[in-house]
Amino acid sequence: MIDTIQACDLVIFGAKGDLAQRKLLPALYKLEEYKKIHPDTRIIASGRADWTRKEYIKIAKTAIKKFLTQEINENIWNKFSARLYFLNVDIFKELCFIELKKILNQTKSIIIYYCAVPPSVFSTIFKRLGQINLNLFPARIIIEKPLGVCLKTCKAINDQISKYFLESQIFRIDHYLGKESILNLISLRFANSLFFNSWNNKIIDHVQITISEQVGIENRWNYFDKMGQTKDMVQNHLLQILTIIAMDPPKNISSTSIQNEKIKILRALKTINSENINIKTVRGQYTEGNIQGKKVSSYLEEKGANVKSQTETFVCIKVDLKNDQWFGVPFYLRTGKRLAEKYSEIVIVFKKMPINLFKNNNYNLSQNKLIIRLDPNENIQIDFLKKISGLNEIYQLKNEKIQSNLFTKTNSKKIDAYERLLLAAMKGDQSCFVCREETEEAWKWIDPIIEAWKNSKENTLKLYAAGTWGPQNADDIIMKDGRYWHKFH
Ligand code: BG6
Repeated sequence: MIDTIQACDLVIFGAKGDLAQRKLLPALYKLEEYKKIHPDTRIIASGRADWTRKEYIKIAKTAIKKFLTQEINENIWNKFSARLYFLNVDIFKELCFIELKKILNQTKSIIIYYCAVPPSVFSTIFKRLGQINLNLFPARIIIEKPLGVCLKTCKAINDQISKYFLESQIFRIDHYLGKESILNLISLRFANSLFFNSWNNKIIDHVQITISEQVGIENRWNYFDKMGQTKDMVQNHLLQILTIIAMDPPKNISSTSIQNEKIKILRALKTINSENINIKTVRGQYTEGNIQGKKVSSYLEEKGANVKSQTETFVCIKVDLKNDQWFGVPFYLRTGKRLAEKYSEIVIVFKKMPINLFKNNNYNLSQNKLIIRLDPNENIQIDFLKKISGLNEIYQLKNEKIQSNLFTKTNSKKIDAYERLLLAAMKGDQSCFVCREETEEAWKWIDPIIEAWKNSKENTLKLYAAGTWGPQNADDIIMKDGRYWHKFH
């Protein structure tokens, strides 16, 4: 594992945008606070504005104050702001890149480009950097979803970037891979014989992955309506989680070994197409409702909406794998916007006890569960049965849970995914990033699902009121297998 902090020139394309202001600046400020940034590292923000350096520093401070819910410490701020530069860059002008080259320190620092811009302009940036040799190793480049809207468009982005950068220079962000609970899955699975030896279809009954959001589409109609929840959340975040749960032990914990195992799982996903779309999937769209006592409007009434949109804001999919280890173990995925709570978890449900010694007390032995929670808190929980303590109750059972918080006062503060991912990119550690093949294999599986919905004669879009848990049909998908969604409590 790489653990060296290197001096970097971090160039942010799109410094005026939401991602840079909301996520990148606060994360970089936090890394300063944690003393994780090399003393010689510089942050060169760029965008189309004729801001002076002083003006940009002021803008950056306002953004950090707004999006980091904590007071800014002036000592840390002074150190941090000394790293900040601003360059007026119009990516369509070659001259701007020549100016950029003049200020970069290619001999002493690793140059990292963060493309915080829409994918439609990625290729212009790659090309401009390539034209004046700003692409050469050891430079690194960070890109983020949406990497295409289907396999073809994803391949086009990958082809464009690989003309100028080697795979070892490319850092594709899926911010879920920077979350503590997701990284912990690897430790949990591969550092504990209890779980390592139970991780197969003899012991595990099924897996549930729920990512439930309370937010709507946050003024992103144009983006979201082209994507829908399946392309926005399942193609990347949910499939990444699924692959980490299902992958075989990698040879070691290097990025390549982990990615190789994840690719095998993506290839093992059973196809969903017109033949099984109705039994394997449910898609929904929110209508008006109440969230935390406040009335919220329907998807079709969002700002900029096309009132005829058939885009899904909720999806539930039953996924089967065609490999020996997971034969007969379904993975139920569900995710949606404007649901009852912001609540996300992975539930590993173990098989029923093969015998029941407690029948006389009328006990149905409930199944053990391992729960890895991402939201609202990050923790790991084991649900099991135990004897009620005391003299009177002999072999009377009750449900119990043991919980371990991933962030506690004594171990660490809550780390935002972007803090971890930016730090990893500065160290050149690709283990929590996604490789080319993963992105393409995921689209290969998603494309037929989207196609089948499009071609379906039935109306596949089910409506659900904002503030509920989605359409009833999502419960039916799991209940017809004799199973239930784990209830959050
Ligand atoms: C993003 C999606 O990738 O993830 C958003 O584009 C979604 O639509 C967000 O809201 C959810 O991230 P988190 O970390 O809040 O669960």
